[in-house]
Parts: sequence; C-alpha cells; structure tokens
Amino acid sequence: ILIVTALLFTGLASLIDDIQKRGVLRVGQDEGYMPLYGTDEKGERVGLEVELINKIAEILGVKVEYVIVNWDGIIPALISGKFDIIFSGMTITPERALKVNFSAPYLTVGQAILYNKSVFKTPPTYQDLADKPVKIAVQLGTTGEFTARRKFPKAEILTFSTMDEAAFQVVSKRADIMVNDSIYVKFLTQKYETLGMTNELLSREDLGIAIRKGDMEALRWFDTFVQWAKTSGLIEELHQKWLGN
Ligand code: ARG
Repeated sequence: ILIVTALLFTGLASLIDDIQKRGVLRVGQDEGYMPLYGTDEKGERVGLEVELINKIAEILGVKVEYVIVNWDGIIPALISGKFDIIFSGMTITPERALKVNFSAPYLTVGQAILYNKSVFKTPPTYQDLADKPVKIAVQLGTTGEFTARRKFPKAEILTFSTMDEAAFQVVSKRADIMVNDSIYVKFLTQKYETLGMTNELLSREDLGIAIRKGDMEALRWFDTFVQWAKTSGLIEELHQKWLGN
C-alpha cells in the first residue's frame, strides 16, 4: 500500500508544485540571444523572453534563477534536472520532442541569412549562394546549423558555441554569411548599419518552452500560459517593444 501511495503521489506531484514549494523557478538558457534575452551593463537579464519569464514567476509567486549552459548541452542539462524549464528561443522539432515536451508555440521565426554590406554590395539571395563554396558561421546545435548543412551542400560550415561569436565572424569578414533565427538576425541589422539580411527565409519555425517528459499537468499549465500571453496581447506588446513590429 505504501508503494502504491508513493507512486500515486509522484504521479500527481507536478513540476509546478515543486517550483512553488521551492519558491524559485530555475530557467535554462545559454549566454545570449537578443532580443529574447541577454545581460545588460548592470548584469541583469533583459529581453522579450525575460519579461515572459518574469510574468510566469509573478503568477506562480516565485523568484527566477537563471542557469547558463552551452547551447549544445541544454537538453541533457534539463533532463538531468539542472533547471526546471528551457525558455531559450528553442525551435520545436520532432527530434527534440523525443527527449523533451514542448509547450504551444509563443513565437514564429525562420532561418535568415546575415551578411556584411561591405562584402556584398547588393543584397545576395539564397539562389546566389546555394551552390557556392561559401563560408557560413552558425551556432553549434541550432536549427541554423542544420539548415545551413541541408541548404548549402558546397559550403564550409564554421560552428561556434554562442550566437554572438558566430555573428562576429560576419562582422570581421572571417565568414561570408551567418544562418540563424530571423529574430536575432533582424535585431543585429537594426543595431549595426554595416549588417544586412536577406528578405526570404530558409525555413519557418515555432519556438516553445521545453520541460522534462512525463508531466502533463505542468505541460498543460505552460500551454495555458502561452495561450493567455497570445490572447491578452502580451506577446504582441513585447514584440513591439523589442523589435518594433
Ligand atoms: N531556434 C534555434 C534552435 O532552436 C536557435 C536557438 C538558439 N538559442 C539560443 N539560445 N542560443 O536551434
């Protein structure tokens, strides 16, 4: 009977209860992905996702703690319990969904090409570059890397552990282009006059919150939060604030 009761309770206890009991929501992210999250001069986490995370914490009545890991190790870190959720601009893919559960999508992006205007006098198109031996900078383990390998068979792919390092290769002309989420690429082109992006996207992708498998109660709660954040206009408002459209 004891064992059955214990099993029943573990089956019922949700991540949401754990977070509330602990008083802390532990969020897994990598170093930076502006305008979704980054660190300002005062060392504070800022960005569109940071504001959504703060909202979640406010509703749950808890504090937020960030656990920063390398992007290519972020799923194993979630699974081993280093934090409660991945809220880190993660694209929902069926391969990743074999390892984690995703919430409903809160943003849609696509893979975009970032280039240096002093290298390309006229904006390049995907067609211009598709069969050329171009050097492409990507962040390791991202859908940007996967897309670049698939759509540019003759390219040399240079991998970096952070997005900013990969983007710096384009700034410093060590790579011809970068392939990454449109939201980040657009943010860079708005910030740096010398950088440009192609209009067409190489893919369409939804971003979702990831949690460990086997907790439908928590998954339902995060789905409800995302649904509410969309319907209430919060996501739209934050998009406007951080990207201006
Ligand atoms: N959305 C892309 C992916 O899931 C890029 C994510 C990179 N995220 C990050 N936090 N650096 O692969």
